[in-house]
Amino acid sequence: MKDDECVSFLQWALPQLHMRWSGFRKIRTRVCKRIQRRIATLQLTGVKDYLAYLETHSEEWQKLDEICQVTISRFYRDKMVFTYLADTVLPALCQRVLQQGKREVRVWSVGCASGEEPYSLALVWAFCLKQQYPQLKLHILATDTKYELLNRAQHACYPYSSIRNLPLQWRDEAFSRSNEDYCLQPEYKQRITFQYHDIRQFISDSGFDLILCRNLAFTYYDQALQMQVAEQLITALQPTGALVLGVHETLPAEYPDVEMWSKRFSIYTKHQ
Ligand SMILES: C[S@@+](CC[C@H](N)C(=O)[O-])C[C@H]1O[C@@H](n2cnc3c(N)ncnc32)[C@H](O)[C@@H]1O
Repeated sequence: MKDDECVSFLQWALPQLHMRWSGFRKIRTRVCKRIQRRIATLQLTGVKDYLAYLETHSEEWQKLDEICQVTISRFYRDKMVFTYLADTVLPALCQRVLQQGKREVRVWSVGCASGEEPYSLALVWAFCLKQQYPQLKLHILATDTKYELLNRAQHACYPYSSIRNLPLQWRDEAFSRSNEDYCLQPEYKQRITFQYHDIRQFISDSGFDLILCRNLAFTYYDQALQMQVAEQLITALQPTGALVLGVHETLPAEYPDVEMWSKRFSIYTKHQ
């Protein structure tokens, strides 16, 4: 499939999935390859046929939605964000949790991929904060829509390329070598719950002190869906809690009830 054919197709299809073309511009080659494979599986002749197929097979939109989900992740992605969380955000949240007489810091990692993001946070806790706050425990809910990623997350074995951003000492202490892979030691996997959840659906859980929703809704979704997701996230956040987006992401401009904690790292806090 030619690039311009795929671009035209995406520009037609994405809005119907409440996604936006601008989020896909840079990574379109990957998505176009998957569409090409789908066209081959369906034994269609090209993208025009696929477009016609979508118009007559409404169930195919679900398949296309899955094809458009981007799953790239790695440990300590945007390292400076994790440093800022360790030095500034988490200590402030821990103080508030203690003032409220609670013993648990509750985190939600939305779109957790194969566990790289929640485990990075578990390592930050273990190596930077645990000793300072022995009264507190960290619990992380980590959710995603792809079962194969959630299974990989439970297994917690990664290629070197995935963990190479981590500080050397953490890599040496927290991982053991298994053939080509680096497997996270069980003690760092405790208190993380992996669960299927689609961020476009309602979640009944709330009261999170920290929510990470990075490189997902605020890159790929259209304005209306971003507003819906923002509402869900802010409702689930504890007053004065922190919401972390991807470094190039922002909440929809008119979103109320929040203020910037760090513009540089796209971190928001919820009004009391
Ligand atoms: C680009 S990855 C980002 C992973 C991680 N947050 C990071 O920044 O490295 C996006 C993740 O969101 C998941 N995802 C896609 N659509 C989702 C949805 N509607 N609800 C929850 N997770 C979703 C994908 O399966 C993928 O694991």
